[in-house]
Amino acid sequence: MPNRDVHKMRESYNSSILLETDCNADPFLQFEKWFSEAVEDKIFEPNAMTLATTGNDGQPSARMVLLKAYSHDGFIYYSNYESKKGIQIQDNNKVALCFWWAKHSRQVRIEGIASRTPKEKNEIYFHSRPRESQVAALISDQSKVVDSRETLEQLYREKEKEFSDKEIPLKENWGGFIVTPYLFEFWQGKGNRLHDRIQYSKEESGAWKIERLAP
Ligand SMILES: Cc1cc2nc3c(=O)[nH]c(=O)nc-3n(C[C@H](O)[C@H](O)[C@H](O)COP(=O)(O)O)c2cc1C
Repeated sequence: MPNRDVHKMRESYNSSILLETDCNADPFLQFEKWFSEAVEDKIFEPNAMTLATTGNDGQPSARMVLLKAYSHDGFIYYSNYESKKGIQIQDNNKVALCFWWAKHSRQVRIEGIASRTPKEKNEIYFHSRPRESQVAALISDQSKVVDSRETLEQLYREKEKEFSDKEIPLKENWGGFIVTPYLFEFWQGKGNRLHDRIQYSKEESGAWKIERLAP
């Protein structure tokens, strides 16, 4: 492995300025504004977000997941409840989400509490997925060690055959999480590394406090 120095990889961000006065008082509506702009501008997978979790051992773990719905109740993604992240959330339901929309030089950070979505909601979403994704969810013990790709493909073929004329069942270990935020940060990359950072933190009254953070 060469000792590769990448310090010359340096982009300059010259997007629009983010002032407190431009920010919506409601962080969900601010998110909606930025997300809509990412969709309109055809940013690739704008709903891809990093999910960070930490289990009992205090070791943080991060991976990408896809945002499937959001509202004032929170941000929903779907996964396996017995995966590494599922188990870490059982131990510690405090999680963080992070979006990066490079084309707009924008990052959104969210911290909050993850809880399982109701079974009925999971059923509806699960059966709306392509059939292949449903079979894959059925056979995958996500995050467990498998001996080979062939084993997975064999299992896939078996289940595909078994359920060829039946509805694919939703396993108990598969479903959604909704992340209810208590902190948002909207980061707008600017020239000279003087980036804009606007943080919203939820107060006990339920109101959102807006502050600017140093870049
Ligand atoms: C762009 C992208 C989107 C992903 N979306 C999901 C998702 O919505 N749900 C999911 O369980 N895994 C998703 N994955 C896979 C996860 O990153 C991860 O490999 C998997 O969930 C197992 O993580 P864990 O072992 O930490 O639980 C996605 C990966 C990428 C690269």
